[in-house]
Amino acid sequence: MSDTNPIQNSINAHIIPTYARFPLTITHGKGSHVFTNDGRRLLDLGAGIATACLGHGHPELAAALTEQAGKLTHISNLYYTEPQGLLAEKLVRHAGGHGKMFFCNSGAEANEGLYKIARLHGHTDGRYEVITTENSFHGRTLAGIAATGQNKVKQGFDPAVEGFKHVPFNDLEAMQAAITKKTAAILIEGIQGEGGIYPAKPEYLLGLRKLCTDKNILMMMDSVQCGFFRTGHFQSWETILSDSNSGGFQPDAFSMAKSLGAGLPMGAIWANESLQDLLGPGTHGTTFGGTPLVSAHALKALEIIERDGLAQHAVALGSHFTGRIQTLIEAHPTVLKEVRGLGLMIGIELAENIPAFAESNRPASVQIVERLHDAGLLTIPAGARVFRLLPPLNLSQADADEGLAIIEGVIKKLSS
Ligand SMILES: Cc1ncc(COP(=O)(O)O)c(C=O)c1O
Repeated sequence: MSDTNPIQNSINAHIIPTYARFPLTITHGKGSHVFTNDGRRLLDLGAGIATACLGHGHPELAAALTEQAGKLTHISNLYYTEPQGLLAEKLVRHAGGHGKMFFCNSGAEANEGLYKIARLHGHTDGRYEVITTENSFHGRTLAGIAATGQNKVKQGFDPAVEGFKHVPFNDLEAMQAAITKKTAAILIEGIQGEGGIYPAKPEYLLGLRKLCTDKNILMMMDSVQCGFFRTGHFQSWETILSDSNSGGFQPDAFSMAKSLGAGLPMGAIWANESLQDLLGPGTHGTTFGGTPLVSAHALKALEIIERDGLAQHAVALGSHFTGRIQTLIEAHPTVLKEVRGLGLMIGIELAENIPAFAESNRPASVQIVERLHDAGLLTIPAGARVFRLLPPLNLSQADADEGLAIIEGVIKKLSS
């Protein structure tokens, strides 16, 4: 084993290899940039897959964390703590001022809470099935991979958790046709993230809402990646439906994680008034859910997002990105095919058969991400031919332009 990269060698030797890691060892970050142990500075337009929503080393978050760490890091949910209460109150206000929260530690765990609510909701009349969509991603637990509409995550883990089936996304008729006497709920992402950045259409959301209400089926949404102000509103459906006559659209329950903790592990579910008390004492729980340290950090992040108008900023910067990328697509159609997304959740789809990628059998999405690394930029691959921009919500215009210049340089080289 070579000694030239002791950290990477140690991780490869001691950590179960569930991640296909890129050969970058990040030591620290400042704002939207990260630094490597060999002295490189890279712009981070992935933000930990939409997680470090205020970038790295944020002084106000660090101060909030330090203050809370000096008071109380953790105490059991057998007791009350102020940061958890303040955070829940603010989130409920953003969710329309009604319903309740449950805090956990990750997106997959938040979705587990939704499946349990769905089962309790359907329990008395024997309904337990949750219909999700093809190409979706809902996490890596056993129920998470059963819910996920991608075969690659399920392989080798049979038998699957019962009660999940998938229908094409943005296809209302397919959803309608799939509903049976066993259906308790549907679960969709407002914007499919891991699947390659595909937003739900407004008429799809409105149609699903009506369908679910008519049939007493829960409409649940996975907002783990697309939620928390990334698209310009608290939740993606508010952005998707902003031009529609949505009549106060709301799902019955939704999950969150990623940006919610602003870099610390936190997941949550919101449930409406009729569901909010279904999960009573002894039915669900988690040791670290809403622990004071993480809650204080998330609360400070939420205050900063509100104070600095970062939802509006995400919209303005998002259209700056997509406008410039659209121009690049027109100039280099042999390399770039399409740009999709809302706000600062952007997917850039590569053209097929890019000659420079022919020599390797690795996905084009990974090959472009590596070339962008070499040029000083972190982005996130999705599927075979998409790379994602999920930057911090407080990304500056200058940093956005730095990223765009790097992307342009790499695309130009690929097209020449
Ligand atoms: C939409 C969606 N749901 C659930 C998850 C799982 O979240 P976690 O990795 O925090 O368990 C992810 C993660 O990428 C996601 O994008």
